[in-house]
Amino acid sequence: MEIRFLQPGDLGDVLAVLESWDSESPKLFSWNSQSLTEEFYASIALGGSLGLWMNGELAAFILFRDLPGACEIQFLATSKVNCGKGVMKNLLRELQKRCEKQQLSIWLEVHAKNYSACGLYRSMGFVQTGLRRGYYSDGGDAFLMELSPRVIRS
Ligand SMILES: CC(C)(COP(=O)(O)OP(=O)(O)OC[C@H]1O[C@@H](n2cnc3c(N)ncnc32)[C@H](O)[C@@H]1OP(=O)(O)O)[C@@H](O)C(=O)NCCC(=O)NCCS
Repeated sequence: MEIRFLQPGDLGDVLAVLESWDSESPKLFSWNSQSLTEEFYASIALGGSLGLWMNGELAAFILFRDLPGACEIQFLATSKVNCGKGVMKNLLRELQKRCEKQQLSIWLEVHAKNYSACGLYRSMGFVQTGLRRGYYSDGGDAFLMELSPRVIRS
């Protein structure tokens, strides 16, 4: 297993992770190849990307932005074949470690019916801080969630 920042040449692998999901799933995360490509370049230009490779294949990635006092996740995904193996939890822990060093919270929004993503975030200690009703194009609500940094004692 290898975790590193994404590079421009990784775009094809990132899009392949998105494409591993069937056509119904994007309603739950509202990303398509065009919006993902735009966010990919924006995130890597700002240093806000992490990928996890297994046996030389991109298994999961996170695109995020650093804001004052917080890191905001734009999108994350695990390839369908690698789901349920703890891959994303591993990658999020890496981001969490990085954020804790800088005492940054992690923010994100998630479709209220994206049960696997909600389960993942809750299992990591994210708490719901807000609700945007009808935020998604299918009329679904968005939960705003936050993971606060643990206090680091010297
Ligand atoms: C959400 C997603 C990233 C989870 O990735 P994953 O690699 O399968 O997650 P993990 O195996 O690391 O799961 C970790 C935790 O998530 C939770 N989880 C995972 N799948 C779940 C499911 N179907 N239902 C409920 N909880 C689930 C569990 O709590 C699990 O922890 P545990 O195994 O210790 O109980 C993956 O399903 C995905 O890529 N979905 C499509 C893209 C997407 O929806 N992105 C989120 C946009 S906000």
